[in-house]
Amino acid sequence: IKADFDEAITKVQSKDELEQLRINYLGKKGIVTELLKGLKNLDAAEKKVAGKEVNLVKNSIEEALITNGKRIEEEALLNSIASAEKFDYSIPSKLNTGSLHPITIIQRQIEDIFKSMGFIIEDGLEVQTEYNNFEAVNIPKHHPARDMQDTYYLENGQLLKTHTSAAQNAIMKKYGAPKPGETLKVLFPGRCFRNENIDACHENTFFQMEGMMIGENISISNLIYFMKVLLSEVFQRDVKVRLRPGFFPFVEPGFELDVNCLICGGEGCSTCKQSGWLELLPCGMIHPNVLEMGGIDSDKYTGFAFGLGLTRLAMMKYEIKDIRVFNSANLKALKQFSKK
Ligand code: PHE
Repeated sequence: IKADFDEAITKVQSKDELEQLRINYLGKKGIVTELLKGLKNLDAAEKKVAGKEVNLVKNSIEEALITNGKRIEEEALLNSIASAEKFDYSIPSKLNTGSLHPITIIQRQIEDIFKSMGFIIEDGLEVQTEYNNFEAVNIPKHHPARDMQDTYYLENGQLLKTHTSAAQNAIMKKYGAPKPGETLKVLFPGRCFRNENIDACHENTFFQMEGMMIGENISISNLIYFMKVLLSEVFQRDVKVRLRPGFFPFVEPGFELDVNCLICGGEGCSTCKQSGWLELLPCGMIHPNVLEMGGIDSDKYTGFAFGLGLTRLAMMKYEIKDIRVFNSANLKALKQFSKK
């Protein structure tokens, strides 16, 4: 019995196995227990000899169980240290790290370009008053231009801004007219909302990037210069543009600056509605009424403003054919732009 036990215990690897072995030998129906029970059938002399033997075996089994218990614990500890040592902290994590949204990437890129040209970056509120969104940019009540922008009104009479121009008035009031010989140059990106039917080219939530430059001698040539810098920096190549007259109540004269469609190269595709051109940069000279409402003397100062369609620009730059990708939370689609 002792020999069998000794052989079995060297093979034991875990606490569970050890416990099982204990039960097999010393449990209620264990081998040793049964032997002890059997002693009562022997006569006194036999009982004395056999009892001694069985108890010796029992004691040595108990001892072996204790020492092997310790051995198993030590081995477990050594194993865990060894496997901890195998952990290599220098291996890059397999966890998903975040990436910037394509709109954010392009927004920051343009901000950097304009900052280097002396522009201040401003933020506009998303919830605006009717005054800021419309009246202050020369779109009075009942003006047909309000229909051009399908506005989301809130129950309290405020609205979700339909264009970044909604921040023009507050910015003019905040900074005031520039000092003599200086100009006020501000860039204000923002999320805009319009009640559009959503398809591959239309979203009810999109981003614009508005810019404004005000000074004593600002002219259309300043406007064109900055727009060219902007586009060539963004696309890193010469892009064909065309300037058409465009109507916006807050600029006079107003223009539509179109870019040759970079997706089809001007041949015509679904993104440019087969025209070969994309309306990308509406702009113009700030209307005197708008300057006046912002507290800036329109006899003395002039300025230009532009409202870049940031979402559309991102579509062009990254050749994204469906605008719905941007708000889709589809990480597989969105993550690939972080490397470009
Ligand atoms: N706010 C206009 C729009 O969203 C764009 C614009 C901005 C046009 C500034 C001219 C000057 O449609």
